[in-house]
Amino acid sequence: VNEAERGRWNDERRARSWPKRERLTATLVPYLLRAAALRCGERVLDVGSGGGRSTIEAARAVGPDGLAVGADFSEPLTRLALERAAAAGVENVRFEVVDVQTDRVSGAPFAAAISLFGVMFYESPADAFANIRSHLEPGGRLVFVCWRSAQENPWFLGPSLAAFVPPPPAPDPGKSLPGPFSLADPERTTAVLGEAGFAGVRRTGHGVEVEGPEDAVLDDDQLALLGIPPERLPEARAAALEHLRPLRLPSGALRFPLAFQVFSAVSRGGPTRAR
Ligand SMILES: C[S@@+](CC[C@H](N)C(=O)[O-])C[C@H]1O[C@@H](n2cnc3c(N)ncnc32)[C@H](O)[C@@H]1O
Repeated sequence: VNEAERGRWNDERRARSWPKRERLTATLVPYLLRAAALRCGERVLDVGSGGGRSTIEAARAVGPDGLAVGADFSEPLTRLALERAAAAGVENVRFEVVDVQTDRVSGAPFAAAISLFGVMFYESPADAFANIRSHLEPGGRLVFVCWRSAQENPWFLGPSLAAFVPPPPAPDPGKSLPGPFSLADPERTTAVLGEAGFAGVRRTGHGVEVEGPEDAVLDDDQLALLGIPPERLPEARAAALEHLRPLRLPSGALRFPLAFQVFSAVSRGGPTRAR
């Protein structure tokens, strides 16, 4: 399950480039925490915790009597998260390397599951959200941030690189195509959450502009991870630069319009969906 994504997120090039990339999205941690409304003493699960910034902030929000557990199947990003938690001196935080679509995370039941862009990469989203829900107390909250559409996020290089990479394979029957925009459609995402046993789904759309350097989205590691073969890197880089030109500021930095949405829902209670 999720083998291709597991490989991508464990690739050393991803581990090298992610700290550059997350400078954009780390600015959105407050949107996640505000919606999650964590209380002192709560136990919270951070799904797809990556380099752990949101997990560490969640641990601070629940205080020393609470616990934040970050779950992620990327070993290099989890190592980074552990280093950051140690450097921050935050003690009520743990990280586990697990596939959250299928595996158990220790520390359940949690009062809340949160995620900053960590829930879009599953082969079977309804199974994955049902597994997440099985870690929650009855009535427990799910709050996550995910992207709105690719068209609303012009910093995403995918469309400019389509000529250099083979089209993605169709998903196997009954499976979904994972990717950053897989939860962009609010109606479909609401239906998936309902199928996974969540109720009271709410969604708010947001847009913010963040200024940052070009290598937040573009360098050779990131191009290679998007599937560009080494011999086509120069052409692909030129196409990507042209795509980013409208975002370029006189200073040389880029203005990244980030269009995202925050979903929240509560666990309906009762047994989880049969697998
Ligand atoms: C876009 S990154 C977000 C990371 C972090 N939350 C942040 O905002 O910087 C997506 C994360 O989800 C993790 N991930 C994707 N699918 C997963 C799965 N099935 N199980 C566990 N982690 C997964 C990836 O390894 C990656 O760290």
